Amino acid sequence: MDKTSRRKTIIITGAAGGIGQGLSKHMASLGWKVGMIDINPIIKEIAQAIDDTMVMPVVCDIRDSAQVDAVITRIEDTLGPIDALVNNAGIVANIAPIAKMKDNRWANELAVNLSAAFYFIRNLAPKMAEKGWGRIINVSSAAARSGLPAQIGYASTKSALWGVTSTTAAEFGSKGVTCNSILPGVIATPTVLSMPAHIQEGVKKASVLGRFGEIEEIAHLVAFLCSEKAGFITGAEIDIDGGYRLNNTSLT
Ligand SMILES: NC(=O)c1ccc[n+]([C@@H]2O[C@H](COP(=O)([O-])OP(=O)(O)OC[C@H]3O[C@@H](n4cnc5c(N)ncnc54)[C@H](O)[C@@H]3O)[C@@H](O)[C@H]2O)c1
Repeated sequence: MDKTSRRKTIIITGAAGGIGQGLSKHMASLGWKVGMIDINPIIKEIAQAIDDTMVMPVVCDIRDSAQVDAVITRIEDTLGPIDALVNNAGIVANIAPIAKMKDNRWANELAVNLSAAFYFIRNLAPKMAEKGWGRIINVSSAAARSGLPAQIGYASTKSALWGVTSTTAAEFGSKGVTCNSILPGVIATPTVLSMPAHIQEGVKKASVLGRFGEIEEIAHLVAFLCSEKAGFITGAEIDIDGGYRLNNTSLT
């Protein structure tokens, strides 16, 4: 951020998770004021560790649009108007074959991964448009392109975020608001690193770079998309997956 400009404000959802924490720290280090939202009350301790008075942790269940609207108002009242939004919270509510996917698990994935992104954008994009500047980033997944056996809810919601991204970009582009999706492959978060070793090795081999992505690599991409320099990028789906989406099978 240009040090002479006012500190801009960003909201990051799922900020207590592996990627959300990394994003929050990185954006604070770049001079952004950060509204950190999570359903997990541990968000307060996590925010304290960032050591910046302009980092505000808030507990909120983003499945509830009334809570979303209320929490946005609280952050605006404390940190000021919101310049950027990262819809980062995401869950896998069930790992099960399609035939065994339960209604309530399917509904939960829809609520967190898809509806919540819509609630935040519905509230914030018009206000960004009024100011003539805004940045919205939806955290999708490589699973949006490839599908993912036994995770139909997760893969479907991540694909559906594309409709949210492209429609938001089209509706608000003329008002200076950009909206993009990023599609991470497997990232070295604590959850991923706690998977059994043989699964970790299989996943690494599936990407042409043969490794996990790093949380910092996601943070740098998000920071760039939030910057002035990214002003001509909108409605994009940006893969950050080490080539996971490519066919890694050789016929030789
Ligand atoms: N880690 C990866 O390898 C990977 C790969 C591709 C995409 N992604 C996506 O990146 C994003 C972050 O992933 P992560 O690995 O950090 O996940 P994570 O599980 O570590 O963090 C997700 C956070 O969302 C919060 N959350 C869940 N339900 C909520 C609710 N109802 N209201 C508010 N907060 C809620 C959780 O408490 C948690 O802190 C997700 O959207 C995920 O799908 C992750």
